[in-house]
Formats: sequence, structure tokens, C-alpha cells
Amino acid sequence: MNDKISMPISNDFCPQTLFCYGTYCADGRPDFGLFCWFSYIWDGELGVMMCIGDEKQTKDNIKRNRYFSANLVTEKMLPMADYLGNADGRDPAKISPDISVDKGQNLDVPILSESPVVFELEAVRSFPLEEGEVFFCKIINVLVDKHLADPAVPVGEKMRAIAPISTTCETYFSWGGKALGGWGEPSKNYHKN
Ligand SMILES: Cc1cc2nc3c(=O)[nH]c(=O)nc-3n(C[C@H](O)[C@H](O)[C@H](O)COP(=O)(O)O)c2cc1C
Repeated sequence: MNDKISMPISNDFCPQTLFCYGTYCADGRPDFGLFCWFSYIWDGELGVMMCIGDEKQTKDNIKRNRYFSANLVTEKMLPMADYLGNADGRDPAKISPDISVDKGQNLDVPILSESPVVFELEAVRSFPLEEGEVFFCKIINVLVDKHLADPAVPVGEKMRAIAPISTTCETYFSWGGKALGGWGEPSKNYHKN
């Protein structure tokens, strides 16, 4: 049997997938933040659950509009995604024109052109906690880059091509398991125009 020790509560060593949530602000400008408390539920069909801690622009926008996008973060997107996780969306200058933004196909939501997998989501129920809020969301549409829909290409090859980022211990990891820097580090190489 392995020797085990008790640790302070954390989810260290339990990797999470990262998404940028896209929302529209009340004045019509798009906002994107970076999020990891995201998983799936089953209620007759696949759905999404996620948690937002504290007050932030993304939360205000989801509560006002119900609709948002969740854009899978890949290695190529990491400097931008880390920036989106460390800049406050209440600043109207957060999303500069060098971030390529499209629209969802089924919902009026902003999406990141660079992301190969995008959920278009409707927050159908939410439960306020003491400091955070949990949301249950219906998946209205899933958008993927065309090459991911090609049945002739093995899934391992597709995953290597998109190279999603995972994170644990406040560190980003490549699909191949290489540490890519702590939270707040990759955005140092991100030059916002
Ligand atoms: C790696 C990483 C993961 C994050 N995950 C979450 C999360 O799951 N929930 C959350 O409320 N904030 C999370 N954040 C913080 C938000 O990205 C941050 O509050 C950001 O400012 C939100 O964007 P907004 O201000 O445009 O709403 C995360 C930040 C980083 C760097």
C-alpha cells in the first residue's frame, strides 16, 4: 500500500481543462475571461456545470443575458488566455481589436476564432453560494474546426493537432505533459495592441 499524508485542501495534481467564456456586456462589447471550474452533467442529455467565484464582468453578463460561449484553450492560445484570466473585464480596453472574435452559429454569443472547440451555452439555473455561484447550462450547439470532424483522422492525431492546455498546482501544462509556466506567466509574452 502507498504511504499517504493529509494535505491542506486543494485540487493539486488533479488536472483541469481550460475554457475562455465569451459574453456580451450591456454596451454590446464582447468580454472573455479564463475559467477552469467547468464540467459536465447528465439530465436526459449532456449539459455543463460551472462555478464563478466572486463578482466579475463575466458573471454579470451571464446573469443578464443567460447566453455565453465556452472556448477550449489550446497551447497556441495560452499567452492570450492567461491574459484574459488576469485582466479585469470591467475595463472596456480589455478586449483589443487584435483578438479575433466571431459570433456563435445558434446563439448571439462572441466566440474566439482561434479556439478549435466552442460550446454555445444557455445558463438555465443557478445557485448562489456564500461567495460564488454555480450554474447549470444547456448545450445549444457545439462548434468545431472542420478537421476535427474528419472520421479518417485518428483521435490521437486530432488531439495532438489542437493540443489543449490543462492546469493544476497553479501551473499550465501542454497536452504532452510539459510545464508551461505558472498562472500569470505566459501573458508576459502577450503583446496587446
Ligand atoms: C488559470 C485560471 C483559471 C481560472 N478559473 C476561474 C474559474 O473557474 N472561475 C472563476 O470565477 N474565475 C476563474 N479565473 C479568474 C478569471 O479568469 C478572472 O476573474 C477574469 O478577470 C474573469 O474575466 P472578466 O473580468 O472579464 O469577467 C481563473 C483565472 C485563471 C488564471
